[in-house]
Amino acid sequence: MRNYRKETLAVRFGDTVNQASLYSQDVVTPIHLSTTNFWRQIDKPGPFEYTRSSNPTRQALEQQLAALEHACFGLAFSSGMAAETAVILGTLKSGDHIIGYDDLYGGTKRLFNSVFNNFGIAVDYIDVTNAELLQRHVKPNTRMIWLETPTNPLMKLADIEAIAKFAKSHNILVVVDNTFLTPYFQNPLDLGADIVVHSGTKYFGGHSDVLNGAIMLNDETLYQSLYNVQNSTGGVLSPFDSYLVLRGLKTLPIRMNAHEQNALHLAQYLEQHPAVTRVYYPGLKSHSQFELAQKQARGAGGMISFELKGGVESCKKLFDNLELFILAESLGGVESLIEHPAAMTHASLSKEEQRLAGITDSLIRVSVGIEHIDDLIEDMEQALAKI
Ligand SMILES: Cc1ncc(COP(=O)(O)O)c(C=O)c1O
Repeated sequence: MRNYRKETLAVRFGDTVNQASLYSQDVVTPIHLSTTNFWRQIDKPGPFEYTRSSNPTRQALEQQLAALEHACFGLAFSSGMAAETAVILGTLKSGDHIIGYDDLYGGTKRLFNSVFNNFGIAVDYIDVTNAELLQRHVKPNTRMIWLETPTNPLMKLADIEAIAKFAKSHNILVVVDNTFLTPYFQNPLDLGADIVVHSGTKYFGGHSDVLNGAIMLNDETLYQSLYNVQNSTGGVLSPFDSYLVLRGLKTLPIRMNAHEQNALHLAQYLEQHPAVTRVYYPGLKSHSQFELAQKQARGAGGMISFELKGGVESCKKLFDNLELFILAESLGGVESLIEHPAAMTHASLSKEEQRLAGITDSLIRVSVGIEHIDDLIEDMEQALAKI
């Protein structure tokens, strides 16, 4: 199955590897709700014993996630944050140091700053695109570089291949949060990263109705360590939610293509609008890392951010007047969402941290959905005319 194209893997892989489906000849992976499984004799356990340790529906999803991300192993969690927590618990110990990209998702910074800091794990957030700065921040106890590319909300990129090469020479693990581009557009493990994490709540589910997270990786020792954390701490994805994600994944490629097409059109429209001072989208030629985007990814995704003239008051008027774009956090669903990072997704950062990260009061982030692009642009046009 590994050699099939993404579109085929997305539709077929999870269902065909499901052992229980082979028995009942289901075309679709069934939802296995039993939390325990019988043994034929005390020395003959079956392939499944207890749902926290493994479950047929979750296993089908984990194998499909691994295949899509070109990984040997996959683990499915109850949220993206549960997956991130397992990565830290399974790889680091007290006294270790992480280098994080300075524009990481606010919740990741909160996890590092308010949870793992209390367990003696220190973090420095830097501009990882500056090789000299990166070199300067490596300490004897640096064990991990944590990347998002593109970042949230400023769509900054990091050169995964170059950073992974640097990290290898210093015995440092590279983790990439691949939520924004998904394995359909970008495969960080192929570029040398050690671990990929996802908030599957976004594009994997795709319909804003299932919280989930995932880890994919190739190294078996690391996998055993992460599996042990998952089994010991219990943040696993439920069978029903695993089914919803399996169902969502079937349309991941066609949804991602539609998100990207709409995002590019909307970004180009906003770029020429007089009320907009700046647009951040890696698919635009004006993006400062456009060439890197082309080199390491097969698409630019469905997320764009832009700065509006007139600060927060203009943003409020825009939100009040939009009809189709829903004012809401999160991203990756079929419907278009719009939000104000300073007041919403990144509100857990102090004003000073927001300023340092470049998150202004005029910044707006859009998760571009798959509605008809003309309707989206007409809606944006009428709302911008009222600010
Ligand atoms: C890039 C990124 N990583 C991780 C997360 C956390 O995922 P979850 O909300 O599924 O716990 C989010 C959530 O918004 C995110 O945007």
